[in-house]
Parts: sequence; structure tokens; C-alpha cells
Amino acid sequence: MEQLNPSYDDPTTKRFVIATVVWGFVGMLVGVIIALQLAWWPANLGLPWTSFGRLRPLHTNAVIFAFTANAVFAGIYYSMQRLLKTRMWSDKLSNVHFWGWQAIIVAAAITLPLGLTQGKEYAELIWPIDLMIAVVWLSFAVNFFGTIAIRKVKHLYVAIWFYMSMVVTITVLHVVNNLALPATLTRSYPIYAGLTDALVQWWYGHNAVGFLLTTPILGLMYYFLPKAANRPVYSYRLSIIHFWALVFLYIWAGPHHLLYSALPEWAQTLGMIFSIMLIAPSWGGMLNGLLTLRGAWDRLRTDPILKFFVVAISFYGMSTFEGPMMSIRAVNQLSHFNDWTIAHVHSGALGWVGMSVFGMLYYMVPRLWKRPLHSVSLATNHFWLATIGIVLYCVALWVGGITQSLMWRAIEPSGLLQYPNFMETLAVVQPFWWFRLVGGTMYLVGLMMMAWNFIRTVRSAAPAGQVETAALSAQMGSAEIA
Ligand code: HEM
Ligand code: HEM
Repeated sequence: MEQLNPSYDDPTTKRFVIATVVWGFVGMLVGVIIALQLAWWPANLGLPWTSFGRLRPLHTNAVIFAFTANAVFAGIYYSMQRLLKTRMWSDKLSNVHFWGWQAIIVAAAITLPLGLTQGKEYAELIWPIDLMIAVVWLSFAVNFFGTIAIRKVKHLYVAIWFYMSMVVTITVLHVVNNLALPATLTRSYPIYAGLTDALVQWWYGHNAVGFLLTTPILGLMYYFLPKAANRPVYSYRLSIIHFWALVFLYIWAGPHHLLYSALPEWAQTLGMIFSIMLIAPSWGGMLNGLLTLRGAWDRLRTDPILKFFVVAISFYGMSTFEGPMMSIRAVNQLSHFNDWTIAHVHSGALGWVGMSVFGMLYYMVPRLWKRPLHSVSLATNHFWLATIGIVLYCVALWVGGITQSLMWRAIEPSGLLQYPNFMETLAVVQPFWWFRLVGGTMYLVGLMMMAWNFIRTVRSAAPAGQVETAALSAQMGSAEIA
């Protein structure tokens, strides 16, 4: 069992864990609400603040920058200190990072329903909040590299390389995409115009997915999976090769968001080719993750942490096969503008990101609070509810999206459109939106079960010394951890 070193800054990690669960609940609740609004329009309530157009960016910002980012920070603070055998460089900066980030989230939760937006997807927040993000992110970056500088272990384990790629790339993306001339306190004009603006925006948008929803989560996988499975990484060499290939290729793939746009065709083709090449490093990561479990597969029957990770890695494999396919122009014709894209997004978001985060939280909470998990069977039920919820969500939207797309392009023998009335195609999609609502609600209920399990865990009486260690190991199925 892991020695809990009292000199690590675990209080900050705990705070990030709590923030992850709280904002995860808020962000996914808003997801469920907007899913309901799509299926049943009166749920917009006839108010501007609660309309779909304002709540949608609230959902995306909350799940990406509040749920996922807080989870990534929790995982980084936990693993980095243990990997480098040192406390974070500066407690002050850790505090600025935690409280500053939560203040940004609150500012987003106020301004987005008010309709204050830059109108750039995933970069909606207005310029004063963008400045706050730059300052807080910088404080994290200084603390991050400061910790590396004072490390007591010379080798930088591969997880840290993945984290590093996030810290560096998000800094550049955020600054470049948000360069703007402020006009008032709430309004600004981007310094780019027209097509350049679109290209910079999707270079940002794509890499926000790449360097917030993919590389840091891979880093967390490389730390938490071998720990939970008590097995070394299958191939350390593969982890290094796929890291460099991934970060090199990812950055060029943004134009696949602008297929059939005014972007020159050669640039679209470049984006498409780089996207297809991305299958190789992505699947390198997937295989390395799955093969790390060799010799531990029997534990899958009893250990919910491994269950979460296996499903997460499988969805990573699926969405990184689907994405390159969707970046082929002919396929994008079928997927763009309809629910296929939303299914792809959520197979990555709910499947890969969400399930990895849950696995990581179930690993960390008993160790951070030094108590055995309240209920392993509740965690297992959470796993099944979430897995079935994702499948319902994605399958419904794949079928609905492709059906609608095929209806748009159906042509009568006379050459006229078979379904010229857009509403006709919407009526066909609507039942699938109800299925998505059910799947999404199941996922949210699973998260609430996890929150309850954690509350009971934290509130339980702390077992003493050896008892704790033995109970934890037996219960979570994990033995000696370095
Ligand atoms: C209970 C779980 C969730 C539900 C019910 C849900 C629901 C939705 C809905 C209804 C939309 C709008 C779709 C549209 O405009 O047609 C959406 C968009 C989106 N959601 Fe979720 N969501 C959930 C969880 C998540 C999570 C955990 C993430 C990320 C980690 C996420 C990321 C996104 C993104 C990035 C979009 C925008 C997609 C695009 O523009 O193509 N969602 N979600
Ligand atoms: C090799 C990996 C991947 C490639 C090549 C890829 C490619 C694509 C393509 C072609 C689109 C549709 C663009 C459009 O028609 O406008 C898309 C959308 C999207 N993908 Fe992926 N994808 C990959 C992996 C992932 C993963 C793992 C996630 C989530 C964790 C993800 C999240 C998203 C999101 C959020 C969007 C919607 C963007 C928007 O329009 O708002 N992708 N992706």
C-alpha cells in the first residue's frame, strides 16, 4: 500500500476532487436540461436566460473547463508529487490556482446565461475572464515547472510529459485565439477577420479537445492504470513514441472542422491527412493501456476502478477511429450538421474522459481521505449505469443523425429533393433525442451515486493504521503501490 507522505500537498488535491464532483454534477445537469429542451421545446421556459442558445455554452464550458479541468488538476497534483517525490513548489501558487480557477468558473456561470459571449465555440468567455484565465493558468504553469525543477527523482515519467504538453499548448492556444481589441467591459473584437478568424478558432477548438480532453487524460491513464492494476506499463518505449507522434500530429488537424468551407482545398486536405495519421499514435495509446492489464484481467470482475478504465480506453479507441473517418471529406458530408458529430463528441467525452475521471476518483478518494470506500457495489452499479447510459446516448444519435443526413440528400427520380421540408427530418430525429435524454440522465444519476458514495466514505470513522491499509487493498483489489 502506498505510503501517504505527510509532506505532500494533499489538501489542494482534495479540493480539486471536490470541485470535480460538484461541477461535474452542475455541468451534466445542464446537459440533461438542454437534452430535454431539444426533445421538448417548452423546457426553454420562454426566458432568454434559460434558452437553449445560452445554456448550451454553459454546458460545454462547465463540463470541459470545470469538470474535466478540475479532474485533470486533481490527478496532476496527486500523481506529480508522488512521481517526483516532492511537494508542489509553492503552496501560494497552488492556492491561487485552485481559488482563481473556481472564480473563473463562477464568472462563466454568471455571464453565459446573461448572453455575454465572444461567439467562438469553447472560447465564449468575454475578455476580462480571458485575462483571469491567462493569469491563473500562468500561476499553475510556474508551479508545475517549479515542481519539476525541485524534483527528487531525475527521471520524468511519461505521464508528466503528457501533462507538460497540456500546460504549454493550452497557454499558446488560449492567448492566440483570444487576441482581441476590447470595446467595452463586456465586448471585444477579434484581431483576426473572416477566414483567418475561422482557421485560428478551429486550430484552437480542435487542440482544446486534443490537449485538454486527450493528452492530460492519457497522462492520468499512464499513472493511475498501472497503479490500480499493479502492473508496469506494457511498453514504456511505445508510450514515448506515441506521445511525440500524437503531439506532433494533433496540432495540424484543425482544418477538419472547416471541410467544404472557404478554406483553400489544400489546407482542408492537409487537415484530413493529419487526422487519418492520428489513428496510429491514438491506437498506440489504447493498446498500451489495454495491454498493461495483461495478467490482471481476472481482477476486472471485482475491481470497479479497472472496469471504468477498460471502458474508457475502449471508447478512446472507438472515438479515435471514428474521428479520422469523419475527417474524410465524403464522410464529413454525412456527419457534419447533424447528431453524428454529437454522438462522436460524447463517445469521447462520456466514454473516454468521464469514465477515466471516475476510475481515477475511485482510486484517489479512499487514499486521500484514508478510509475504505463506503460501497464497492454502489461503485459497480455506477459503472453499469454509466456504460449503458453512454451506449444509449451514442447509438440513438448515430442512428438519428445518419437517418436525418440521408433524408437531406434523398433525391426523387425527377431530380427534386425527396424531403424539402426541414421539419419533416426533425420529426424523425425527435424520438432519438428522447433516448439521448434517458441515456444522459442515467449517466448523471451514476455520478450522483458516486458523490453519495464519496460523502459516506469521507464521513465514515477512520480505521487505524494497518487496518486501513489492509481493508483498502482488499476492497479495491490493489496490492502494493510504490
Ligand atoms: C449527462 C451527461 C451529458 C448530457 C446529457 C449532455 C448533453 C448534451 C447536449 C444535449 C448537447 C447539445 C447537442 C446539440 O447541440 O445538438 C451537448 C453538447 C456538448 N457536450 Fe454534452 N452532455 C453530457 C455530458 C458531457 C460531458 C461530460 C462532456 C465533456 C467532457 C460534454 C461535452 C459536450 C460538448 C463538447 C458539446 C458540444 C458539441 C458540438 O458542438 O459538436 N458533454 N451535450
Ligand atoms: C484521432 C482522433 C480524432 C479525430 C481525427 C477527430 C476528428 C473529428 C472530426 C472530423 C470532427 C467533426 C468536425 C466537423 O464536422 O465539424 C470532430 C468533432 C469533435 N470531436 Fe473529434 N476526433 C478525434 C478524437 C476525439 C476525442 C477523443 C474527443 C473527445 C474527447 C473528440 C471531441 C470532439 C468534439 C468536442 C467535436 C465537436 C467540435 C465542434 O464542432 O464543436 N474528438 N472530431
